[in-house]
Amino acid sequence: MAQRATPPGLTTTKSPFIEQAQHDGQLYIHQPYELYTSENHMAWRLLFARMGEYWQRYANPHFLKGVESLCLDPNRVPRLDDVNRFLCPLTGFRAKPVSGYVPAFLFFDCLRNREFPTTITIRDANSLNYLPEPDIFHDIAGHVPMHTDAAFAEALVRFGDCAHTAAELVANISDEHEQACRLTSMITAMARFFWFTIEFGLMESCDGLKVYGSGLLSSHGEITHAIESPEVQRYPIQLEWVINQSFEIHHYQPLLFTVQSFDHLFDLVGELEKWMRAGKLNNVAPGEPQISEADLLSFLKH
Ligand SMILES: [Fe+2]
Repeated sequence: MAQRATPPGLTTTKSPFIEQAQHDGQLYIHQPYELYTSENHMAWRLLFARMGEYWQRYANPHFLKGVESLCLDPNRVPRLDDVNRFLCPLTGFRAKPVSGYVPAFLFFDCLRNREFPTTITIRDANSLNYLPEPDIFHDIAGHVPMHTDAAFAEALVRFGDCAHTAAELVANISDEHEQACRLTSMITAMARFFWFTIEFGLMESCDGLKVYGSGLLSSHGEITHAIESPEVQRYPIQLEWVINQSFEIHHYQPLLFTVQSFDHLFDLVGELEKWMRAGKLNNVAPGEPQISEADLLSFLKH
């Protein structure tokens, strides 16, 4: 007798629901919860269970409080509506389901509106370790607990303000080449700053260095490496360094930056915006990340 194939459910890169949404050009979608398979829930359960001890050891206290406030179920993929019911009253933020990559301006504009574009698929239960794409574990267990913190939430909103400033600054440049160059440079600076803070940031505390970056909070291998490995360079954050520092996504990060607090982070995003207005982000060092045509257009045609 032929074996019945496991339904693909909402597994990363294998979900017909997501393929259809992308084919139809739908970026903002709903979360068809009934499509999650038992394997999808198992992937969540395994990921959540193995992160627990690392969070206790390495995560900053705001994150730990956030995990509790959201009442995340350790056994099942969360319903975004349930997450939002706990999240919204705290900071006004909500997780907003998306079908895939959100072009840069739209992403930052969502943050400005206190919406967090959230992937609803989850990695394959058979290959939990490495995933180049974000999934719901990264987005909900790695990012969203931080959104329960008022100061952190304000810093995210300020990223959105920055994106609007960038769009304004290039809107009236008539030379298209010049416009694209400046915009590419400003988006590169923002993306680098976002990467080294929101995704991979460390925070100083009286209890030693703690993690607040979501890329680290959703990776049990890298969270330990980030704090313990003598091979990682860790420095107090400097804006002029971060905006000119390229990064690669496919291996553990060799260079990380520390902030003192989320108020410090908020001030730095403000500084980034001031630098943008002063023209100091018009010509940052070339290199990763690459800014796509879709990213540029999202700023020019919003
Ligand atoms: Fe992320």
